[in-house]
Amino acid sequence: MAPKNVLFSCNNLILFNILITIVLPTTQGAFSSTISKQQQSSNLTHLQFYFHDYVTGPSATAIRIAQAKTTDTSPSTFGALVMIDDPLTEGPDNSSRVIGHAQGMYGFADQQEYALLMTMNLVFSEGQYNGSTLSVMGRNPVMEQVRELAVIGGSGVFRFASGYAQAKTITMMDPNGATIVEYNVYVSH
Ligand SMILES: *[C@@H]1O[C@H](CO)[C@@H](O)[C@H](O)[C@H]1NC(C)=O
Ligand SMILES: *[C@@H]1O[C@H](CO)[C@@H](O)[C@H](O)[C@H]1NC(C)=O
Ligand SMILES: *[C@@H]1O[C@H](CO)[C@@H](O)[C@H](O)[C@H]1NC(C)=O
Repeated sequence: MAPKNVLFSCNNLILFNILITIVLPTTQGAFSSTISKQQQSSNLTHLQFYFHDYVTGPSATAIRIAQAKTTDTSPSTFGALVMIDDPLTEGPDNSSRVIGHAQGMYGFADQQEYALLMTMNLVFSEGQYNGSTLSVMGRNPVMEQVRELAVIGGSGVFRFASGYAQAKTITMMDPNGATIVEYNVYVSH
């Protein structure tokens, strides 16, 4: 009998909450107010762009800022930390229109394989997205065909953002020292 009673009172609690939600005004106090379901809306956006990571040369955009004593002997560069300000372009060519930058860090976080911890802001500079950002964090095992990272937030147009980004390497370390990665980002905001 006891579990049934618990269930019963639980149902009552849910009903009570529903009644409270309907009956009470939305403003609860001076410092908070509830935004009704009717006032809420969100968009789902797909973004596709190309990430250019220049690790060498006079205009490198990805610079190693720290490493462990053991990084040089690690088979997976474990312990290296790289700061980036990588251009994001509309198309895969390096002359393609720049639509923003990926600013942040990646660290080699796996002792067996090349797998990065990436934490970066995608800072957009074109059209309706100019000045808006997406914050991305995740594991990037770079030798795999397609990697998935989490979109954990955003600003501007992308307030309340959540979603995911898929990264696919197009060119690995070309003669200009560039690695070019196609990003497909799906974000609700
Ligand atoms: C959704 O997209 C439309 C069209 O671009 C825009 O007018 C609207 O403000 C967007 N809504 C949100 C919540 O971003
Ligand atoms: C862009 O690519 C071309 C062809 O590979 C190359 O000649 C040029 O130096 C590259 N530009 C930059 C900024 O890397
Ligand atoms: C983006 O916004 C900045 C700052 O408001 C402005 O200076 C710049 O011209 C804008 N760029 C585009 C392409 O609209």
